[in-house]
Amino acid sequence: MSDLVETSEALGVMNALPHPVFVVDASGKFHFANTSAEMFFKTSAAVLLARNLDQYLSLASPLRALIEQVLKGRSPVNEYKVDLSSPRLGSERWVDIYVSPMVEEEGRVAVQLQVRSMADTLDRQLTHRGAARTVTGLAAMLAHEIKNPLSGIRGAAQLLETSGTEDDRTLTRLITDETDRIVRLVDRMEVFSDERPVERDPVNIHSVLEHVKKVAESGFGRGVMVEELYDPSLPPVLGNRDQLIQVFLNLVKNACEAMEGREDRVLTLKTAYRPGMRVAAAGSRDRVSLPISLSVGDNGVGIPDDILAHMFDPFVSSKINGSGLGLALVAKIVGDHGGVVSCDRSGKGTRFEILLPVWKEARLTNG
Ligand SMILES: Nc1ncnc2c1ncn2[C@@H]1O[C@H](COP(=O)(O)OP(=O)(O)OP(=O)(O)O)[C@@H](O)[C@H]1O
Ligand SMILES: [Mg+2]
Repeated sequence: MSDLVETSEALGVMNALPHPVFVVDASGKFHFANTSAEMFFKTSAAVLLARNLDQYLSLASPLRALIEQVLKGRSPVNEYKVDLSSPRLGSERWVDIYVSPMVEEEGRVAVQLQVRSMADTLDRQLTHRGAARTVTGLAAMLAHEIKNPLSGIRGAAQLLETSGTEDDRTLTRLITDETDRIVRLVDRMEVFSDERPVERDPVNIHSVLEHVKKVAESGFGRGVMVEELYDPSLPPVLGNRDQLIQVFLNLVKNACEAMEGREDRVLTLKTAYRPGMRVAAAGSRDRVSLPISLSVGDNGVGIPDDILAHMFDPFVSSKINGSGLGLALVAKIVGDHGGVVSCDRSGKGTRFEILLPVWKEARLTNG
C-alpha cells in the first residue's frame, strides 16, 4: 500500500472516491486520508496526519473497538448502520464501516466509511409521515373540542367590549386575539387530517419560488438578500401549487427566522435538474427517480443539536412562539408528492433540499 499511495495515479483514484478512506495505527494516529475523509472530518489531510482518530470519536465509539478487533484478528471486519456522532463530528453521523488490516504495514488498518445519508433520509421520511398521522386524529378532535367553545368565548368577549370601559376593552381584545391565535393553530393542524385527494397540475416551481420570495420580501424577510440559482431546464412538477407554496413559505420563513438579527442575511433559492438522480426507496428494492432538486439555504444560526433528530416531528420547536408544525407539514406535503426532504448542515448555516419526481413518473400517494 505504501508504494501504491505514493504513485500519484493511485492517490488520484483514492481522492476521486466518494467515500472517506483513511489509514490509522493501533494508537489511532492517522497515516493517510483521502479527500472524502477530509470532508468527513472537516479537517485537511495535513492537519489530520498530526492528529489522533480519538480526537474525533466519542469515548465509547464502535469504530475504535472495530479497529482493535481487526488489529488482533488480522482479518477484515464490516459493520453496518453505525452512528459515529461525537461533539466534533456532530450528531446523526450514520455510516457503514469497512476495516481491513494493511498487509505490508504491520499494525495499521485501512478504514472505509460509507455515509448513509440518502438511505436514512428515506427511512426517516416514513417516520415523519407516521408522526404526521398521529397529528391527524388529534387535529380532528381539537377541531371539535376547541374550535367550537372558542367561538363562544370570542363572541362573549366581543359582547363585553361594547359595554365595558377602555381597560376592559384592552382585556377583551386580548381574549379575542388569543382565541384567534388558537384557531389559527388548530386550522394549521387540520391540514394534517385532510384526507381529501388534492388536485394536481403541472406546476412551474420557479413561479412558486417567485411568489414565495415576494411574500417574504414584503414581510418576514424584509432586508434579506435573496440569491437565486435557477436551472432553466427544470421541468414542471405534477403537484398542488398551493401546497408547494406552503412548503417553500415554511422553509423560507424558518431560514429568515434563523438569520434574524444578523447583518449579512443571505437566503439561497436553488433549483437543479439531475436526470441521473435515483434513490433507493426504503423497504423495497425499487429505485425511484427524483431528478428535481430544490433547495432553500441560509447563513443563519444553524439547527440546534437537540432539535436535529426530531425537527420534522410535529410540535418540535426551539422558538418561544413556534408551534413546531412548519417542518412537519413540509415533510407531509413533500411525501404526498412522492419526494423526500433532507437537511444539510455541513456548510455555513442550514440548507434544506427537496427531491421530487418529474410529472411523468410521479408516484402519487395521499396520506
Ligand atoms: N433554517 C433553519 N435554521 C435553523 N434552525 C431551523 C431552521 N429550520 C428549522 N429549524 C429548527 O427546527 C425547528 C422546527 O421548525 P418548524 O418550522 O417545524 O417549527 P417552528 O418554526 O419552530 O414553528 P412554526 O413553523 O410552526 O411557526 C425550529 O424551531 C428550529 O429550531
Ligand atoms: Mg417554522
